[in-house]
Amino acid sequence: MFEAHQHARMLADATRLTAFHDAMAEVITEGDRVLDAGTGTGILAAMASRLTTGTVVAVEYLEDTASFAKQALRDSHLDRVEVVRGNAVQADIGTPPDVVVSETIGSLGPEENIVGLTRALRQRYPDIRAFIPSRLRVMAEPVVSAEAAALRASVMGAFTREQPGGMSFATVLPRAEHALGGQIITARLTDATSAGPAEPLVEYDLGTTPEADFSQTLSLGDSPANAVHLYFEAPLSSTVTLSSHRAAAFTHWGHSYVVRPPNASTVTISYRSADRRFVCRWDRTAETD
Ligand SMILES: C[S@@+](CC[C@H](N)C(=O)[O-])C[C@H]1O[C@@H](n2cnc3c(N)ncnc32)[C@H](O)[C@@H]1O
Repeated sequence: MFEAHQHARMLADATRLTAFHDAMAEVITEGDRVLDAGTGTGILAAMASRLTTGTVVAVEYLEDTASFAKQALRDSHLDRVEVVRGNAVQADIGTPPDVVVSETIGSLGPEENIVGLTRALRQRYPDIRAFIPSRLRVMAEPVVSAEAAALRASVMGAFTREQPGGMSFATVLPRAEHALGGQIITARLTDATSAGPAEPLVEYDLGTTPEADFSQTLSLGDSPANAVHLYFEAPLSSTVTLSSHRAAAFTHWGHSYVVRPPNASTVTISYRSADRRFVCRWDRTAETD
């Protein structure tokens, strides 16, 4: 099934499309062969085809999505884009590409396997000149956030207010607090201030870094932070960087954060590519059970 809602959100994200367009205009030179790895609706391949007379191959592994892109490109008279259904790493795309563009960036960066995908493409085509994006960093910034405070108040309020049937969550309240701290929330941070330096949790050199897994512990010490804002930075070219930081132009990726449980001072943030997900664990000083 073609995921119309997700693709509509991506097509409506002008910040994202402008960033990719400007980076491609900087990196792609006349005659370059371009591979759009994970083409979705074909939008990036369409933009690339205006920047080169070389072949543009758009690979998409979902059948309905590939056929949607194929028809839209044909109807737009963008006949030079060749849509191939399959895995971008294994598909037969003819001549090796000079430039690979891939918008397979997850909520925090690696969850759509951009690290493994670009690495496998580099191994298959050693002469690729450039990847767009070229790098990907997952960042963490301690913040004082009104949104995080309101979320915590609302969640903890649900467990402390009187419940029907004589039910009480009093003894398990610390567990709820700790569990909330482990969840990555995606919303919009409009009222947050920095409460410590932003730090990279991991930086991937796309095409080269072999695997995405990492685990990093952040110490908040006596910082007043009530949350840690998690975001990615993706340099697309030497002058264009796409970022989901709260102060950057808002994108469909939204703003992610974890809520700090009271008295917790360290958080370990890990990513496992086998699960394609992040795990956040706070120290358990706030939990008394
Ligand atoms: C985040 S969407 C982006 C779509 C489009 N490039 C854009 O910028 O709007 C990623 C797309 O890549 C496809 N995809 C992810 N990994 C792929 C792979 N290894 N081979 C082919 N398609 C892939 C997904 O099915 C999805 O349609």
